[in-house]
Amino acid sequence: MKITIIGTGYVGLPTGAGLASLGHDVTCVDCVKDTIETLKAGKVTLYEKGLEELLTSGMTSGHLHFTCSIEKEVVRGAQVIIIAVGTPENLRTGEADLSYLFAAVEQVAKKLEGPAVVAIKSTVPVGTGDEVERFIRKTNPRVQAEIISLPEFLREGYAVHDFFHPKRIVVGTQSEKVRSLIREMYAPLSPAPKMLFVSRRSSELIKYASNAFLAMKIHYINEMADLCEAAGANIHEVSRGMGADTRIGSAFLQPGPGYGGSCFPKDTKALLHMARKHGINLSLVRSTILGNEERRKLMAIKILKSVEDIQRPRIAIWGLAFKEGTDDCRESPAIGIIQYIITHSAATVVAYDPKAMQNAHKLLGDSIKYASNKEAAAQGADMLVILTGWDDFISPDLKKLKMIMNTSRIMDLRFTMSLTGSSF
Ligand code: UDX
Repeated sequence: MKITIIGTGYVGLPTGAGLASLGHDVTCVDCVKDTIETLKAGKVTLYEKGLEELLTSGMTSGHLHFTCSIEKEVVRGAQVIIIAVGTPENLRTGEADLSYLFAAVEQVAKKLEGPAVVAIKSTVPVGTGDEVERFIRKTNPRVQAEIISLPEFLREGYAVHDFFHPKRIVVGTQSEKVRSLIREMYAPLSPAPKMLFVSRRSSELIKYASNAFLAMKIHYINEMADLCEAAGANIHEVSRGMGADTRIGSAFLQPGPGYGGSCFPKDTKALLHMARKHGINLSLVRSTILGNEERRKLMAIKILKSVEDIQRPRIAIWGLAFKEGTDDCRESPAIGIIQYIITHSAATVVAYDPKAMQNAHKLLGDSIKYASNKEAAAQGADMLVILTGWDDFISPDLKKLKMIMNTSRIMDLRFTMSLTGSSF
């Protein structure tokens, strides 16, 4: 099958490389020239486990191609055109910014000649499919495009794994013909994934409803962690006990410094905005958003409180990415916490992350120091804070730390969730 994917970010690239490995003829398009040049040279533009190997094999087999602009030949003959561009948060209103999406759709509408399925993989508010349909009709009335919703549930850090083992594939279309085309597109996946065919609007909403629910679950366990700390209970035992009930489930009950990333923070806000437009009050989603934002400040205050006896404390941070397995620092709790610390105290921050140093530097610049490894970050520090759950940070060597740190205190906000900054 000939497939075109527009957008080579954390969703588009693993999807494109994955579909090529299923034997489809895939062309990935991105308007950023540097990105395409790098990809053409066989190098990855973002860190994702297994992606580089997948790219190399796709290019070697001749199934995977890259190009900079949506030219006629890119869409000619394509049976499916997948749009996977970003829909970032509009910082003023909280709604999803659809400008990249419509810019891509406009190009497709202008260049498309034959019939094609345009699958919207970008996370878009309910009703966007209808808008895109109207827009295409207006831009080029001759075009026969079937607009469907094909939301993405890949997790960063596990995107390649999730592509090959999806929990479900949601397809929003009423057309039987299109349903079988999408079935055919994923047919080589083994075991066969669960396919869920729903209306386009339901499909658009499934993505937001899922992400907001998971965000709520995290916020709930974080509130329980605070209660456990105050009441002398152990949050991990509580979480295990809750998760053992299959109606609750154990996933997403890991307490921490709050959720981050390119999806949960933006999608919860966009959902709230969307609901407001429809006159619906999503009180749980609203308090999740507020609680999660507040949590960064709360964690930063706890850190500062643990070193309040030191005049100019040196704080070592392990982890800058929003979670383990990725170099992505978008909406990372670590970044928010560090920003609070450096603006509200005289502390010096020295940070280390195995993959996210470059991206963190783009956000924090030279306001903190960067160490070349975890020991170098801890050297001479008064306190060590673990903010990303990289495997390498599990069970730190306390003996070694005691030798190299100035005053040995640790606050682990990922694995043990010890909030108080205990000395060791
Ligand atoms: C999420 C969804 O899981 C995915 O289906 C969707 O396509 C995109 O958004 P992602 O943002 O990659 O994926 O990360 P995820 O693993 O879901 O974690 C999101 C945030 O929640 C991270 O900051 C993570 O550290 C945090 N988290 C997750 C917790 O704090 N506790 C948990 O138990 C799980």
